[in-house]
Amino acid sequence: MTNKDYIEKACQQFKSLMEEQLERQERMETGSAPKDFAAMEKITIGIVGGDGIGPIIMEQAERLLRVSLAEEISAGRIVLKQIEGLTIENRTALGKAVPDDVLAAIKECDVLLKGPTTTPKGGTLESANVTLRRELDLYANVRPVQVPEEGIDWIFYRENTEGEYVLGSRGVEIPGKLSMDFKVTTEAGTRRIAKAAFDYAAANGKDNVAIVTKANIMKKTDGNFTRICHEVAADYPGIKADDWYIDIMTANLVNKDIRSSFQVFVLPNLYGDIITDEAAEIQGGVGTAGSANMGDQYAMFEAIHGSAPRMMEDGLGDYANPSSIFKAAEMMIRHIGFTAKADKLAAVLEECCEKEKKVVVTGFADGATCKAFADYVIGKL
Ligand code: IPM
Ligand code: MG
Repeated sequence: MTNKDYIEKACQQFKSLMEEQLERQERMETGSAPKDFAAMEKITIGIVGGDGIGPIIMEQAERLLRVSLAEEISAGRIVLKQIEGLTIENRTALGKAVPDDVLAAIKECDVLLKGPTTTPKGGTLESANVTLRRELDLYANVRPVQVPEEGIDWIFYRENTEGEYVLGSRGVEIPGKLSMDFKVTTEAGTRRIAKAAFDYAAANGKDNVAIVTKANIMKKTDGNFTRICHEVAADYPGIKADDWYIDIMTANLVNKDIRSSFQVFVLPNLYGDIITDEAAEIQGGVGTAGSANMGDQYAMFEAIHGSAPRMMEDGLGDYANPSSIFKAAEMMIRHIGFTAKADKLAAVLEECCEKEKKVVVTGFADGATCKAFADYVIGKL
């Protein structure tokens, strides 16, 4: 192919991407009412093992759910459903980020608790997470981080369906010469994540929301993201909206003099991805933070970390820390309406992870195993 051919092909692709994204923005404008769990006779929780350390931590997470939700499960109000086939082997063999039958099984559930899935670098296979977030329209990635002894109580509202991710596997290139990826900000997509962040702030007595972008450089996408967040903020008079750039905010989070003043953050997808790993590390490691992917019809709860291929290679899988997926389980129990049970689990996790610390997982053979830690937590429920 000549350069001219590449450019011609890229222009055609760009046209169809823009049309597709415009359609998505229009679909979002109509919106949909959130599910009312209290009114539902039966709630189906999908259990997805994932790759690497996924099945190891998920086995313990499922035990935890069976204890925490024992009465509801035996009464048939809650059903746990195993979802098979979301493995890197199956996904690469079929060349599908989420195979059709797996997606159909997932769509029969109301919420999911999901172990980490491996994302291949390069190639064209999209991350299973990105596909699921898009297919289930899980637009808000909510990640709380707390360090009580320092007064840190942060919650991140990361936009989860667009930005750098939505077309991340559909860039263009002239091989050996140049490559271009696309970042997308839509009006409706930004409005709904901003609204989620400000609603949370209003409902939880917070008076400050940090809007974090790089709008000085990404003028269109981040520029509009900031503008829309401020338009939404105008409906919340008691809450101050502050603009920050992602670089200085990354530095602020390691600045002990000011970091505890931040409360709620709202930010585009990729910045949210990066800064929440940093925040989790401040809390005690990426193995310690839970993550909720929320939409109006579905919600998916997962650990903030990946499948830890290096731990598996080193034979350390059994020493994986399940606290991140346990926190995700707590967020899920809260989301489906069992507040008292979620509070109980949160208190037990705080006791086990921060106060008593009788069984400590380090991720190495000198620490406790995943199962031993789960026994410790479950023993206190
Ligand atoms: C996360 C993860 C994912 C992401 C990966 C697994 C695709 O890092 O949930 O933060 O980049 O969003
Ligand atoms: Mg991440």
